[in-house]
Amino acid sequence: MKLMNGKNVAKSILENIKERTSSYEKKPGLAVILANNDEASKIYVNSKEKISDSLGFKSSVYRFNKSVTQGEIISLIHELNEDSEINGILVQLPLYNHLNQEQIIELIDPKKDVDGFHPINIGKLNCGLKPYAVCCTPKGIIKLLKAYKVKLKGQSVLVIGRSNIVGKPLATLLTLEDATVTLAHSKTKDLKSLTKNADIIISATGHPKLITADMITKGTVVVDVGITRQLTGGLVGDVDFEKIKDIAGYITPVPGGVGPMTIASLMENVLELFEQQNKRQE
Ligand code: GUN
Repeated sequence: MKLMNGKNVAKSILENIKERTSSYEKKPGLAVILANNDEASKIYVNSKEKISDSLGFKSSVYRFNKSVTQGEIISLIHELNEDSEINGILVQLPLYNHLNQEQIIELIDPKKDVDGFHPINIGKLNCGLKPYAVCCTPKGIIKLLKAYKVKLKGQSVLVIGRSNIVGKPLATLLTLEDATVTLAHSKTKDLKSLTKNADIIISATGHPKLITADMITKGTVVVDVGITRQLTGGLVGDVDFEKIKDIAGYITPVPGGVGPMTIASLMENVLELFEQQNKRQE
C-alpha cells in the first residue's frame, strides 16, 4: 500500500506559514460564520479555529442558532467587509435552509473571500486568471498529489461529484494542470467503466463505499474526499479503503487524507489575502 498522508503534508505547510508570519507585526485575521446545525460543520469550524489560533492568527467565530435571519447575516458580512483587522471571511456551508446561500456569498468582498466561492473568484479561475483565493479542498488535493509527485499532465482524471465547493473547481484546476478530466455525478451512466479507465480517481460524493475493489485497475491513484459519520461514531470516506489499498497506486485515508489539506490550504489563503491587502495599503 502507498498512502498519501495528508496529515504530514499539511503539517509542513502549516509550519511554513508559521515561519512566514512570525516576523509580521500585524497578524492575519479570519472571521468564520457558522449558521447551521450540522455536526460535521461544527467539527470543521472548531478545527479551523484551533489551527488558526495555533498559527497566531486572529480568528473570530460567529455561531448562530436557527432563529438567525438573512438580514442579520447580511449586516455581519457588511461589517466584516469594512473591518481592516479581518482579511478573510468564511461562511461555513451548508447554511440553515431558510437562508439564501448564493446571496450571502455574493455579498462577501471578493478580496476577502478566503474560500474562493464568490462568482468573481470562480470566474477568474475559469478564465485562467488568478483569483484572490482558490477553493481550499481542490487546492489541497492538487498540493497533496504534487507532494507525492503524482503526474497530472496528460493523465485521465475522473472526478466524481459536481459541487461548487469541490467537483467543479477541482475539474478546472486539473484542466489547468493539463490533465484530461471527466466530471461524473449521480446521473452518470456506468460509473465502473469510467473508474476502470482512469489514471486518477477523486471521489467527493459522501456515499460510503461507492468505490469498490472491482471498480479499480491496478496502480490507479485514489483520492477520497468523502466524509460520512457512521452511527458508531467513526468517519468513513467514499472508498472501500481496506479492499482497495493494495490495488491502488496511491490512496488517501479518511480521516488524515484530504481533510487536513483543506485546512492547511485555508490557512495559506488567509495569509495570502493578508499579504495582498497589506501590499495595497502601502
Ligand atoms: N462545507 C464543506 N466544505 C467546506 C469548505 O471548504 N468551506 C466552507 N465554507 N464550507 C464547507
